Amino acid sequence: MFRENCAVIENKRIASGHYVLRLASIRIAKVAKPGQFVQILCSSATSPLLPRPFSFLTSTNRDFSVLFHVIGKGTELLSRAQKGDMFWATGPLGNGFMADRTTSGSRHSVATKSPKTLNNKILSAEGRTRLLYGGRFAQDDVSFLLVGGGVGIPPLYHLARELVKRKIAKDNIHVFLGARDKTLLLCEKDFKMLGVKLHLATNNGSKGKRGFVTELLEEYLYRTSSDSRHSEATLRLRSGQAPSPKNLKNEILRFAQDDANLSDGVRIYTCGPTPMLKTVSTIAKKYKVSCEVSVEEPMACGFGACLGCAIKVRREDASPCKGGSVIDPRLRGDDNYRYAIACTEGPVFQVSQILWE
Ligand SMILES: Cc1cc2nc3c(=O)[nH]c(=O)nc-3n(C[C@H](O)[C@H](O)[C@H](O)COP(=O)(O)OP(=O)(O)OC[C@H]3O[C@@H](n4cnc5c(N)ncnc54)[C@H](O)[C@@H]3O)c2cc1C
Ligand code: FES
Repeated sequence: MFRENCAVIENKRIASGHYVLRLASIRIAKVAKPGQFVQILCSSATSPLLPRPFSFLTSTNRDFSVLFHVIGKGTELLSRAQKGDMFWATGPLGNGFMADRTTSGSRHSVATKSPKTLNNKILSAEGRTRLLYGGRFAQDDVSFLLVGGGVGIPPLYHLARELVKRKIAKDNIHVFLGARDKTLLLCEKDFKMLGVKLHLATNNGSKGKRGFVTELLEEYLYRTSSDSRHSEATLRLRSGQAPSPKNLKNEILRFAQDDANLSDGVRIYTCGPTPMLKTVSTIAKKYKVSCEVSVEEPMACGFGACLGCAIKVRREDASPCKGGSVIDPRLRGDDNYRYAIACTEGPVFQVSQILWE
């Protein structure tokens, strides 16, 4: 975490009440990861006294940008920022998306572990070489589904850029954007320029599907779960693993029962309004897909001192808070839940951790 006085490079209005602010930064920008955030002090006077948290939209070796919606005094002041103005910023803060860590290194890190995989090298229906090991998918076969609404979209754009930079196939990066109307589909053009797959929804139907972005997500997962059942059966046939006639009936039953399990091939990353996050969580559980949720609880200090951003999470056996070893008794909860500090443990959480209220 660094504290820097950053000069405004550009402050651009991109939609009604929405701006992209780009700040020069030597230290923060270099180490910022998708899903992390920065606290910006919006005024050199005493009001507002506290800095405001914003997710990174982009970060390079020289600068970072944030996309913000004007909703109060701090963001109103930021919207008036001019080139050359200076702002104190602290960051990067919090824990970002795991995708950023799991996609680093060898793209076939699971698949290349054992010589056994060589025996499993088979040609897929599209003629591409796929590697299957222990029934798990290699990185090439993982679809990254990024689901965003409103000012939850910026960290997902940062993540999409990082995935593209890490040479994840663009066809495997699906971005689902939702907004009230087409003017608020933030970053639509930027995602298009990245070349990833875009799925759009607007409440009034002015662009994309009329309705909620979560409906698009569910449609996609429904289609994919049917396709994956079909292609798993095809792959097993081609690799000579077809069930013997004796077991055929059991195999058919297994495929029929396993109707919604996409656990290895799909990962969801989401950020946006809480009702959207809750629905995405329900869908992820239904399809047994791993899902990371970035929560944007109102924050004050941003580094674990004030406990103002606590959220309720499931208590796990391995929790350091178990047995009352937690530092602050207000975070203890009971045997089933505890409170997590969103600014330091999050803002990104596994969906299975969060207990929505
Ligand atoms: C980790 C994190 C990342 C964020 N990333 C972004 C981002 O990329 N872009 C962006 O525009 N905003 C983002 N936010 C929200 C942003 O921090 C607030 O909009 C900002 O602090 C508002 O400051 P303000 O002084 O303009 O409004 P204030 O005067 O502080 O608040 C105005 C009104 O908005 C409510 N409010 C303030 N913050 C929040 C919040 N987090 N959730 C719900 N209601 C709130 C207040 O209760 C009040 O009613 C993020 C928040 C967090 C915690
Ligand atoms: S904002 Fe102070 S502890 Fe999280």
